[in-house]
Amino acid sequence: MNVEGTLKGKVAVVTGASSGIGEAAARELAARGASVTLAARNEGKLRFLEREIEAAGGRALAVTTDVADASSVEGMIERTVGGFGGVDVLVNNAGMGLSGRVADLGPDDLRHLFEVNVLGPLNCVQAALPRMKPGGRIINVSSVVGKRAIPKVGGYCATKFALNALSDALRVEVAGRGITVTSVYPGTTQTSFRENSRRTGDEKRGWRPKGVPPEKVAEKIAQAAESGGRDLYVTLKDRLFVVGTTLAPGLFDRVLLRWAKD
Ligand SMILES: NC(=O)c1ccc[n+]([C@@H]2O[C@H](COP(=O)([O-])OP(=O)(O)OC[C@H]3O[C@@H](n4cnc5c(N)ncnc54)[C@H](OP(=O)(O)O)[C@@H]3O)[C@@H](O)[C@H]2O)c1
Repeated sequence: MNVEGTLKGKVAVVTGASSGIGEAAARELAARGASVTLAARNEGKLRFLEREIEAAGGRALAVTTDVADASSVEGMIERTVGGFGGVDVLVNNAGMGLSGRVADLGPDDLRHLFEVNVLGPLNCVQAALPRMKPGGRIINVSSVVGKRAIPKVGGYCATKFALNALSDALRVEVAGRGITVTSVYPGTTQTSFRENSRRTGDEKRGWRPKGVPPEKVAEKIAQAAESGGRDLYVTLKDRLFVVGTTLAPGLFDRVLLRWAKD
């Protein structure tokens, strides 16, 4: 499919663009014509992607950013407005994981995770919203485990539940301004997410499905950038998991009991 140009003239900010889903989303949005700000902490990786996008005829701006730091985020949004003239699409994708049973979670680890996964998107929303016009799109990358928490990653799940709550409230608050808020719920995705996660102790990690390539999630993010939408799932299996756990939570507790044993 030739999708070039569907986001022509739009300006998108993608956090966590140095790796995985964010990197794929930045490429996809640029291929559809958007000018893309690439935000994350790893400057070298951002510059590499910036050059790649520009070599393919797109427009990109690498801005080293720590989403947990409100002044760093404010500076990144200012550079976006200065370089591209505004912000139409905000993709809150930057995030990290934390494994460990609830009884063992360290408060400092959990506090850090909330700073990145919840306050990070909040900082970006608060900096970008005053510059967004009708037609603006906010896209928050959640997770299927933000709909049903699973053992051994309860702290991480809690951050995604919190993010969903912010998305739901914000969606209604900004609807009158013509701005949409979309939650994207990936299941397992083939990125370095697990390797980049914090870990409590060295307990064996649970089995994970093989997952989808990050480009599949990027397509959903681009769909939200074009047309909005409320809740977007990447695969039918992810959708069925959430519907099933909502309709029969006790049954899923029993299934997860086996999974959590070792
Ligand atoms: N992979 C999965 O199975 C999966 C499933 C569901 C949801 N998700 C969600 O998808 C999102 C992207 O994850 P991924 O799978 O692409 O993992 P990843 O490859 O580890 O990418 C995480 C990205 O977040 C950035 N990041 C981390 N802390 C940051 C900070 N303080 N400030 C700015 N950027 C920061 C990292 O960049 P720097 O290190 O350069 O800062 C990196 O670009 C996350 O929100 C994750 O929770 C992932």
